[in-house]
Amino acid sequence: MSTEPSALDDLLQEGRRFPVPEAFLEGAPHVSDASVYAEAESDFEAYWEGWAEELDWYERWDQVLDWQPPRVKWFVGGKLNVCHNCVDRHLKGSRRNKAALIWEGEPGDVRVLTYHDLHRLVAKFANVLKQLGVEKGDRVAIYLPMIPEAAIAMLACARIGAVHSVVFGGFSPDSLADRINDAEAKVVITADVGHRRGGLVPLKSNVDRAVVNTPSIEHVIVVARGAGIAEDVDVGMQAGRDQWYHDLMRDVRGGVPCEPMDAEDLLYILYTSGTTGKPKGVVHTTGGYLTQVYATTKWVFDLKEEDRYWCTADVGWVTGHSYVVYGPLANGATVFMYEGAPDWPDRSRLWQLCEKYGITVFYTAPTAIRAFMRWGEALPKQHNLSDLRLLGTVGEPINPEAWMWYHRVIGGERCPIVDTWWQTETGAIMITPVPGVTETKPGTATRPFPGIQAQILNDDGDEVRAGYLAITRPWPSMLRTVWRDEERYRQTYWSKWKDVYFPGDGAKLDEDDHFWILGRVDDVLNVAGHRIGTMEVESALVDDKRVAEAAVVGKSHEIKGQAIAAFVTLKEGIDSSDQVASELKAHVVEKIGAIARPEAIIFTADLPKTRSGKIMRRLLKDIAEGRAVGDTTTLADPEVVRKLKDRYEDEE
Ligand code: WTA
Repeated sequence: MSTEPSALDDLLQEGRRFPVPEAFLEGAPHVSDASVYAEAESDFEAYWEGWAEELDWYERWDQVLDWQPPRVKWFVGGKLNVCHNCVDRHLKGSRRNKAALIWEGEPGDVRVLTYHDLHRLVAKFANVLKQLGVEKGDRVAIYLPMIPEAAIAMLACARIGAVHSVVFGGFSPDSLADRINDAEAKVVITADVGHRRGGLVPLKSNVDRAVVNTPSIEHVIVVARGAGIAEDVDVGMQAGRDQWYHDLMRDVRGGVPCEPMDAEDLLYILYTSGTTGKPKGVVHTTGGYLTQVYATTKWVFDLKEEDRYWCTADVGWVTGHSYVVYGPLANGATVFMYEGAPDWPDRSRLWQLCEKYGITVFYTAPTAIRAFMRWGEALPKQHNLSDLRLLGTVGEPINPEAWMWYHRVIGGERCPIVDTWWQTETGAIMITPVPGVTETKPGTATRPFPGIQAQILNDDGDEVRAGYLAITRPWPSMLRTVWRDEERYRQTYWSKWKDVYFPGDGAKLDEDDHFWILGRVDDVLNVAGHRIGTMEVESALVDDKRVAEAAVVGKSHEIKGQAIAAFVTLKEGIDSSDQVASELKAHVVEKIGAIARPEAIIFTADLPKTRSGKIMRRLLKDIAEGRAVGDTTTLADPEVVRKLKDRYEDEE
């Protein structure tokens, strides 16, 4: 386990408790009675079936759950369409003219799409995709900024049964090409540019560089996001391959209906980092996924008809899939979406938007909260945040100080905070307070959502108070496999214990049996809430011809949670210098994207290895954290560590 016991003990001494605020109860939350837990436990299949019944189905399922570990099927034989449930079904009643998406671009341009507008655009774009030859089951890559077309493209794929693979716009052309190739996507949807901190992100030119190496791509669809705003945007359109979104939308005649999909048909692939150099394509299907994202959005965010809901995640991550697009739209909510960064044009941008749009439910990441804390409370205090009634966090453990700040400064001490634990693989929230019921404590995600069963186990699979988090019963939105790599699916998630899911996190139970999530126990880093595999960064480093060997570890970072420290051995005859260090950092950015930029590069003649040649990462971590270095007796050459430590301290 990589977690520090002493830090953990401090956490667990956290004595502050926050009962459900009176003001929140006065708003008549969806759930205000803890009996929901017992009810769900008494028959969890019937409980999930009840949720599925809140969705529209073309054909009812014959069986709720078919569990043949680790193969799972939910709502077997059922037929539905995700786009129908997120869009079409809201057209019948009072939601027809309700705002589905309220969007503001970084330069301040605004668009509001009602459910009716959204339906028209999605149905048309689905037709565009069809006419370009996209069929049910085909993969479509989406590489877009946070603009309404991102949601439109996802929903249009769902409408015709195409499988989307959204790639975060911060990823490099190489990363994009790898993901396109792994999924063999036929089409990629991008924009000429995205707006970020006053600058332009050259998405189309990244795509141009990627598709040179992606034989499966037949069409590139380009949304004009720079045109009319940024004068000098000039993207070369390659005849026969590239087409403007607005031209296609103008020329297509009408929309297409929703394709009835099997509950187990694929909805999307989303790549996420693991412990090897190659990201894995997490596969989500239709019925179970939508059921759980619908249920958790409704209960955890307590969404009501009049809410103005804002989840700050990018659609490139799972949080953007489940809690910007599918969960809230399935609930018929009004979703606010923002294109830009929180600190542009100034550091009160998000609070200004909360005030302007009267945001009521706000969901963000601890990393952002820590940055806001550092920027000072004067900024949020300049804005009227009194419409906020519920706050959420996700992506990494939240330290109690950040939780308290969020509670006091943003929540005005009247908003419950839902600290939600889940993963790309789980598809939806798994461990979380239910805001009308759960007494919260700063730093704990509290207890499994009704119907979810989690435990803490040791290596032998015995229940313990501190050890590995384990999910001990199937849940509807679980990943079904790793795209074209069933073996990796079995190995990564199902080989640690028998028929129990291993998420890769450490955790501990407190005296109330609340879960404290302690971070990854594998070689996956969590940098500013983004998952990055150490091996991915190492492969990018050794890809530079000057590098002989590299070992990457995480080091604590005040804002980002973790930062990347890379220990690098250069080839014979190559001298280390600041210049080489910054070139190597740039190379990692080039290979993966800016999120993977190492914060520190430490050159070393040798890496600490065991006699069998295995790099001792634990020691590197100790060095990177400036801790006393642990046991070195198994090292081939204990001197290496002493030298490395001296060197590291010199650099700091
Ligand atoms: C971490 C993001 C503590 C955890 C939805 C998990 C958290 C990984 C929390 C998944 C939380 C997420 N408290 N840790 N509330 N939420 N994590 O796939 O290590 O990007 O395994 O999914 O983030 O990251 P992913």
